[in-house]
Amino acid sequence: MPVLVVNVDHVATIRQARMGREPEPVTAAHLAELGGAQGIIVHLREDRRHIQDRALQLLRETLSTNLHLEMAATREMQDIALRTSPHMICLVPEKREELTTEGGLECQGREAFIRDYLAPFQEQNICTSLFIDADPHQIDAAAESGADYVEIHTGSFADAKDVVIRQQELEKIITGIGHARSLGLKVNLGHGLNYKNILAFARIPDVSEYSIGHSIVSRAVMVGMARAVEQMVRIINGFVD
Ligand code: PXP
Repeated sequence: MPVLVVNVDHVATIRQARMGREPEPVTAAHLAELGGAQGIIVHLREDRRHIQDRALQLLRETLSTNLHLEMAATREMQDIALRTSPHMICLVPEKREELTTEGGLECQGREAFIRDYLAPFQEQNICTSLFIDADPHQIDAAAESGADYVEIHTGSFADAKDVVIRQQELEKIITGIGHARSLGLKVNLGHGLNYKNILAFARIPDVSEYSIGHSIVSRAVMVGMARAVEQMVRIINGFVD
């Protein structure tokens, strides 16, 4: 059975809108665990636009499930990740100007670099994953790089407006899962998955984890809105005798 790992980056995005203390992504991570998440993911970006180093450390110390760290393949992130020792690291491409991770990691032609980059993690028994498009060449290169997992990018499927293109993208992902598994890679899926499109994967075998963030944080805001307003109304009503 695939498991859900919840990305709490966008709780921190809301906090960073005011550069204040709330909402706290670490608290959200604990609540996600209470809800049944089997792991928590954060992406520590070079520009620290949402998750900060402090949250990473607190999550490492306090989670009762697994911590996964998404990161660019830089020296700075390698040092932080080795110090923190999460359960899994996932290498993603990172561009400063992007709103979110746009494409998969370019592995083809960089196998030796990636292999060397991953080696100290493997020595420390940290699982390694590469976030890639469902492209057979990238999957081959990921296997060649010695990663334990690939996370196949589901964004082009999730974002497709046209049903024919959407179906083609889904088939590419399904073929990619089979290809990766045949090379001994474990497979996670992520990006743009939501309460509707996740159903497309219901009967697809061989997926280890779904990595989902934005749609869950968005739903949390909506399902919590009425209750949050009720609580404020109750306080304000208490002002009157
Ligand atoms: N997987 C990776 C590698 C990502 O970069 C992201 C976005 O941070 C996700 C999964 C989660 O995507 P979403 O927030 O669209 O669910």
